[in-house]
Amino acid sequence: MKLQGGKRQFPPKSADELHVKAKEQEKKRMPSCFQRADVTVTDLEELQELLRVNIENNKHLVTGSVRAKVLKWGEDVTEFQPPPDYILMADCIYYEESLEPLLKTLKDLTGPDTCVLCCYEQRTMGKNPEIERKYFELLQTDFELERIPLEKHDEEYRSEDIHIVNIHRKQTSFPS
Ligand SMILES: C[S@@+](CC[C@H](N)C(=O)[O-])C[C@H]1O[C@@H](n2cnc3c(N)ncnc32)[C@H](O)[C@@H]1O
Repeated sequence: MKLQGGKRQFPPKSADELHVKAKEQEKKRMPSCFQRADVTVTDLEELQELLRVNIENNKHLVTGSVRAKVLKWGEDVTEFQPPPDYILMADCIYYEESLEPLLKTLKDLTGPDTCVLCCYEQRTMGKNPEIERKYFELLQTDFELERIPLEKHDEEYRSEDIHIVNIHRKQTSFPS
């Protein structure tokens, strides 16, 4: 997960412009729960320095707290409990070996009220369509999915090949 966009659909902007835009969005559209959030950004051990650089570069936008932590998918998530209100996943569906560990992490991390927003770029080359199909097939064992229609995406950053899915644990997937 990262705090700053760098894809071709995201034309580079000055820090001031980004700041103004973020503030406008915060005022106009952000639900109050996002206006002050305690955020943990996670990645592999070797990406921690980059996470810290991103945090430093974006700290003027943060009204709550933000920290970087190692989380390798499939491994223990005890230190991230209790379940967060939101999990934001960007571009995490892209190689086959990670699918089961990633799904385990989502299952271990989510509670009945956790909202997972999963954003991904639809890739058409090689094994990617099959990886995406398998991910959503496995995901639906324990989660309910709702695709967010393109017209509800950000007007400036929306793109036909970028999808956002709202994911919730099925209530039946919790042990009674
Ligand atoms: C395609 S990048 C997306 C990065 C960022 N979220 C973005 O949208 O720009 C995928 C990210 O998943 C991380 N990743 C890959 N395998 C992982 C694993 N097994 N456990 C945790 N993170 C992993 C990579 O280090 C990388 O930062």
